[in-house]
Amino acid sequence: MKLNIGLDQDTLKQVNELLNALLADQHVLYIKTRKYHWNVSGPSFLEYHEFFEKQYTQLEAAIDEVAERIRTLGGRPVSTMEDFLKLTSLKEDKSDEIKTPDMFKRLLDDHEQSIRELREDVSKCEELEDAGTADFLTNLMEDHEKMAWMLRKYLS
Ligand SMILES: [Fe+2]
Repeated sequence: MKLNIGLDQDTLKQVNELLNALLADQHVLYIKTRKYHWNVSGPSFLEYHEFFEKQYTQLEAAIDEVAERIRTLGGRPVSTMEDFLKLTSLKEDKSDEIKTPDMFKRLLDDHEQSIRELREDVSKCEELEDAGTADFLTNLMEDHEKMAWMLRKYLS
């Protein structure tokens, strides 16, 4: 059944493509944060272990929101690891040994990249006159800005 919400098919297609690319990035970032939750060590182990858990829990919630936004707009969320890896602009962390400060730095870089991409996505949605998705992505960008701030604090 076609949506009759004031956005044409082409607009919906473009917005859903942009949301699926975001969904792919979020999965890579989620897995990377979880990897660090599992592998962090040292005197502040428990603090960092719990910090990463807080962040991946937040990312998990965001993933669900994005997928359901796609469904709301009549699209189909990408749902396989293969497709996530094809669509993402982030890189997986395949290394075995990672120093703790590097964990923070790599996550910070990914969040900052996500923020820059989200900022562009917000502008694109505004151009397409999809106020709902522009607002949704603005809120998400603010969440990433806060997560990035916390990661930055550990590095300063
Ligand atoms: Fe755990």
